[in-house]
Parts: sequence; C-alpha cells; structure tokens
Amino acid sequence: MPDRDAYPILPGALADKPTLSLTDRLRGRRLRMPWSVPDAMFHEPFVRRKTLIGEMIFIGDPVLAKHVLVDKAANYPKAPLELRMFSALFGQGLLGIDGDLWRKHRRTMAPAFDPRSVAGYAPAMAGCTEHFLQRWDELPDGSVVDAAEEMTALTLSIIARTMFHEAGQGLETLIARTLDDTPDLADFNLLDLLPVVWKFRMAARETRMAALFRPLDGAIAEMITAREASADPPDDLLSRLIAARDETTGAGLSAREVRDEVITIFMAGHETTATAMAWAWFLLAKHPHEAARLHAELDQVLGGRTPGQADIASLPFTRRLVDECLRLFPPAPGMSARIAAAPDMLGETPVKTGTYMVLAPWVQQRHRQTWDEPERFEPDRFLPERSEGRPRLATMPFGAGPRVCIGQMLAVNEIILILATVAQHYALDLVSDAPVKLHHNVTLRPRGGLPMRLRRRTRAAALAAE
Ligand code: HEM
Repeated sequence: MPDRDAYPILPGALADKPTLSLTDRLRGRRLRMPWSVPDAMFHEPFVRRKTLIGEMIFIGDPVLAKHVLVDKAANYPKAPLELRMFSALFGQGLLGIDGDLWRKHRRTMAPAFDPRSVAGYAPAMAGCTEHFLQRWDELPDGSVVDAAEEMTALTLSIIARTMFHEAGQGLETLIARTLDDTPDLADFNLLDLLPVVWKFRMAARETRMAALFRPLDGAIAEMITAREASADPPDDLLSRLIAARDETTGAGLSAREVRDEVITIFMAGHETTATAMAWAWFLLAKHPHEAARLHAELDQVLGGRTPGQADIASLPFTRRLVDECLRLFPPAPGMSARIAAAPDMLGETPVKTGTYMVLAPWVQQRHRQTWDEPERFEPDRFLPERSEGRPRLATMPFGAGPRVCIGQMLAVNEIILILATVAQHYALDLVSDAPVKLHHNVTLRPRGGLPMRLRRRTRAAALAAE
C-alpha cells in the first residue's frame, strides 16, 4: 500500500477551488460545476437560497435526495427550462419530455436496455475497441495522444455500431460533425424563462437545429424505412427501437419518435462514457498502485484475450475501480433541477410549491457526512463489507428514481469492456504534472484535453514489473 499522504490533490477538490476574478464572475464562470454550488452543500444536509427565479434548495444529503428523486418523485418533475433545453436540441426524446408521453417512451424503450439486450451489445463494444487499438498499434511506442479526444472517437464508434450495426461506421463522421456543431448549454439563459420570449427563442432554435440535423435525419430516415421493410433486420439498438411495443397498449414509436430517441441516445450516451474513460486513465496514471492491481486482475482473468460479457462478473476489482472513478468524476456532475409541484416536507423543513431542487452527483459523492476522505481515490471503498449501511444514493452518477439513466447498465458494461481491452495492451502516462483544469458543459471534461503517453504492455513484462 502506498503512503496515504502521497496521494495527489485531484482537480475539483474543494482545496483546489480557484479564486474567481470579477471578469470571471461577469462571464458566468460561477455558473458552471463544480464551483457553482455553495460550499456548505458539501457538509450540510441541504442549503436554501433565494434567487432571481425563485427559491432553491441545494441537496447534499443522500437520504433527502432519495426523498426527491425516488420516494416523492411524482411531486418533483423536471423543471420546464431543463425539458425545453433538451427538446429544443433533440426533439421529443426521453431527455426532453415529461408526463404521459415520457412514460410511454420509457416503457416502450425499456426492453432495448434490459440485461439481455445489453449483453447482446457486448461483442460490438469489445470488437470496436480492438479495431480502435489497431490505430494505436501503428504508432511508435511512447506516442502522445489526447486521451479525452481518443475516448470520444472510440465511444462514438461504439454507440454508432451498437445503434446501427455495420452501417454505423459509414455514419460516424456525419454524426460527429452534427454533434460538434450542436449549440451548448451557454445558449440557454434567463431569457428562456420569460413569458412569450421563450417561445420565440425556442422556435428560432428549432429552425437552426432542423437545418443542422437535416443530413443526418435523411440518413436515419432511410435506414428506418429499410429496416421496416426488411425480413431479417440486424440485431442492433435501432431494430430494437423500431420493434419496441408498449407492453400496456401494444403501440410502437413513430418514425419521428424513433429518430428523436436515436439522437437523444447519441447525445446522452457517448460523451458521458468518453468522459468516464478519460478520467479513468487520468486516475490510473496518478495512482500506480491501483493501476498495478487492475493489470494483475486483467492478466490473471483474461490473459490477453478480448473480454466478453461473461467475463465482467469475474473482474470485481475492475468494477470497484469503475465505481470509484464514477464517484470522483461523475461525467454528468449536475442533473436537471426538479420543481416542487405541491407543498411537501423535506425532513422537518417545509417546501413551498415552485421551489427548485438542485441535485448533483458531484456533491453527494464528495459529501463530508457520507464519505471518509472523499477526495481520495480508493476503489476498495466499494468492497461489499465497506459498503454496508451506506445510503443508497451516496453515489448516483446515473441519477435515481423513475428518470434514472436508461443506459446505466449499457454504460457500465461498456466502460468495463473498454478498460479491460485497452489496459491489457496499454498503460497511459500523463505527459505533464501541470494541474488539470475542469470544463463543464453538461459533462465535466478536462479543459483543453488530456495529453497522455501510450506505453505498450506485454503480459510478461507487466508481471515482471509488478
Ligand atoms: C457513464 C455514462 C453515463 C452517465 C454518467 C449518465 C448519466 C445520466 C444521468 C445522471 C441521467 C439522469 C438525468 C436527470 O435525472 O436529470 C441520465 C439520463 C439518461 N441517460 Fe444517461 N448516462 C450515461 C450513459 C448513457 C448511455 C450509454 C445512454 C444510452 C445508450 C444514456 C441515455 C440516457 C437517457 C436516454 C436518459 C434520460 C432518461 C429519462 O429521462 O427517462 N446514458 N444519464
């Protein structure tokens, strides 16, 4: 075990909080995670604030978070601005809808994300990763790559292949270009809350998005028509969405609904996973002892072969490591705010109708009352014997309750399969000791990328070195 005091201060630690200049504040830098929330949120159960848009309660205590997200979920729908934001960008997909329409889509789509379906995507995930590594294999040993950018390319190819089978490969460039040009959250502000004004702003955005997505929409529409006509469609996510039927009503999704869900899944499911992978490489590089434990488990269980779905259960340390990466650097550090539809009690505290509830995996997963030394990277926190009695929402990188991430199981499997495939052949070292800065725009990424040096591993060399 290494000297505990030798652990590095990680980016985003409270101890690492930057001082913001007046210009920074005017430019809205405080609005971004992780610095936008009051410090007290990291040690108080909750913090109340009056703001321009009304009262806000920032929740830090996982038991109170469960009250809002799970136990009383019906009383705390997503705030309208959040829904508007996502529906302007991706139409009527799960992230941008609510009420009966959301229930219908979620029920209909659930089977495409159940354990059996997710297991079916594993060969494509591992296969894409092997294919991706061929490019690294052609680089001289010690080459420097931007790990964040590389992981984005890899997860894009995985989601394209999982969604569109072989046709996905041909669409990658078009998808990447379209997603790159999608406006970011800075495009949304208080004007989007003003009566009447918001409608004009939404209409203008919808026109812009329709133009941006036209080429991709054309390709998706062609594929949907071809699949509907095919007697033997490939077994991918698109086929599952087209074939999906609401178990209560028997109704399926229309072509437009399938399109909106396809775009939503691309947006929700690729940068998040890429971000998780980038932070995993960063944390492994900073913690050689844990990297050695990962390599030992992979070498012992897989011995150099490509991992499959059945191997995941035999990689308990890899799983703990992934859980700890997602705790320290949740790819979606904040979540959509909820709004109280009727008066309620939060413990002993009354909540008025219209109060905004702010919940953030980042805060709960670093909360002082829940976690011992929260800013230390320690995968063994997730050993079963050390997890007993921990509140259910102490970690919630995928949210919780009815609106929990539909792709949670798919994402965890994907991260484990990528890690297990890549780490058998490569170790990634940081090129510089300079502090990594954070950039938050829905996901929390290393600002300016993550330059890392590729070091080839062979099993024998690794065993000798470790
Ligand atoms: C590490 C990877 C991922 C993380 C950390 C993540 C995180 C989240 C979180 C926190 C939410 C809930 C937001 C809220 O309640 O405000 C969410 C929702 C969602 N995620 Fe993920 N996600 C990941 C991967 C994926 C993948 C791979 C897919 C699809 C293939 C996906 C699809 C979705 C969808 C469609 C929703 C909306 C669900 C609904 O409202 O019913 N996500 N995700």
